[in-house]
Amino acid sequence: MSQQQAVITIDGPGGAGKGTISLAVAHRLGWNYLDSGALYRVLGLAASRKQISFDNEAGLAAEAAVLAVSFGADDPLLGVRVYLDKDEVTDEIRTEQAGTAASRVAALPAVRTALLQRQRDFDAPPGVVADGRDMGTTVFPDAPLKIFLTASAEERARRRYKQLIKKGDGANIRALQEEIEERDRRDSERSASPLRPADDALELDTTEMSIEEVVEKVMALAQASQFVR
Ligand code: C5P
Repeated sequence: MSQQQAVITIDGPGGAGKGTISLAVAHRLGWNYLDSGALYRVLGLAASRKQISFDNEAGLAAEAAVLAVSFGADDPLLGVRVYLDKDEVTDEIRTEQAGTAASRVAALPAVRTALLQRQRDFDAPPGVVADGRDMGTTVFPDAPLKIFLTASAEERARRRYKQLIKKGDGANIRALQEEIEERDRRDSERSASPLRPADDALELDTTEMSIEEVVEKVMALAQASQFVR
């Protein structure tokens, strides 16, 4: 494994604000940003398009190995732009349905193995902020700063609801909370790299915090570490 000195991992359940926070911290530091969830989301989409069953672990792993996913500039509402082949899928992969498909393919060990090196390749100078579920436990176990972001399920559903409404999509807050809780359960209970804080992660409950407060807190932790100037 390469020496991982300039890596900040930000893990946690869906809707805890990882994407927004990670992207903001990456911008402030001028570092790369890895949205690992987008890889699983795009794989779920590719599998649906090619009619690969979510039970077909070998087929999904083979698809993961050749997945033509790429990232572009950020969109203020949608985060980083995502492409499958030449097709922009930024919006399509952000639906709750795509989140559920992602969490189903992500539960398969062979799929996770097939995507591992691709994620580690983001660890390039000057550094990377990596957002996901197992960044601190599996993908970058030697990262010098690991954050585990949480927020209550109600608050996470509320944030997701606000995001959807802002985009002009309809949403039902109760259904959203149920989907979020179901996805948390699947992500936490799977045997391959389950959602859990690394032993050396700092847990941050953001239920009562604004985005700006969380970004400032992570920046302060980064600056207090030796590896960020
Ligand atoms: O973070 P995001 O909501 O985009 O992730 C979608 C799904 O992808 C998660 O619910 C999880 O099942 C899976 N995932 C994962 N490991 C990661 C990132 C995402 O299993 N590092």
